[in-house]
Amino acid sequence: MTGRLQGKSALITGSARGIGRAFAEAYVREGATVAIADINFERASQTAAEIGNEAYPVLLDVTEQASIDAAVKAVEEKTGGIDILINNAALFDLAPIVEITRESYDRLFSINVAGSLFTLQAVAKSMIARGKGGKIVNMASQAGRRGEALVAVYCATKAAIISLTQSAGLDLIKHGINVNAIAPGVVDGEHWDGVDALFARYENRPLGEKKRLVGDAVPFGRMGRAEDLTGMAIFLATAEADYIVAQTYNVDGGNWMS
Ligand SMILES: NC(=O)c1ccc[n+]([C@@H]2O[C@H](COP(=O)([O-])OP(=O)(O)OC[C@H]3O[C@@H](n4cnc5c(N)ncnc54)[C@H](O)[C@@H]3O)[C@@H](O)[C@H]2O)c1
Repeated sequence: MTGRLQGKSALITGSARGIGRAFAEAYVREGATVAIADINFERASQTAAEIGNEAYPVLLDVTEQASIDAAVKAVEEKTGGIDILINNAALFDLAPIVEITRESYDRLFSINVAGSLFTLQAVAKSMIARGKGGKIVNMASQAGRRGEALVAVYCATKAAIISLTQSAGLDLIKHGINVNAIAPGVVDGEHWDGVDALFARYENRPLGEKKRLVGDAVPFGRMGRAEDLTGMAIFLATAEADYIVAQTYNVDGGNWMS
């Protein structure tokens, strides 16, 4: 059977673990070759080895332009060009407004916003030069739809992703490059273990309680799993999504409606 992404070359940032890894596994199942591009090269190498021959590790720090350029070049050299980018790498932090530090603000905006924009830019340049168009999927969040008392900076970075998806989508469609985004809700995994620990500290809760509460509050009845997002990530990378431009899709079990 031919996969829906047969022969496509994909670069997925932050795919050494979590949602990015699930995307990589799903893309390989659909016939794509995937660059596991992550700042944690050791884990990226391990993940790629576990996924199989169609996945390979690439060292990438999205906060460094030279690293972005080198990663794009590495994928071009390995596969002849990039068909799909998933801008997935991001960092979370949590603090009341009066305790937010410049350091945390700068780090989150540098990875989540500048990192996504300049990776998108480098890949778009590569796609334009190749002349075959492409698909770019940004990772937004329900956090970008509505602010949260303790989550100001992360929420602002994800609102920025929704906005950048709109602008980049409008600018790049003339090159046959579709830019869209996915807004997950709460997705269980190592990332949310960290989020839960931060809430435990700031809301004075036992470990695991915040996770249980957010899971119970999802209309679907549980937290998301990385695999819940793969269908949308595959669809947005296929020709069936050619007419979809500059959109952000909620895949969140019913948490947000827009
Ligand atoms: N987990 C959730 O509940 C949830 C909800 C909404 C949106 N999201 C978004 O989905 C995406 C993936 O989330 P996740 O839960 O899998 O996160 P995660 O923390 O498990 O994985 C993030 C990956 O990014 C990598 N990374 C960090 N800094 C990097 C850098 N400078 N350059 C390159 N790679 C870097 C990490 O090494 C890690 O492998 C993120 O954009 C996140 O904001 C997650």
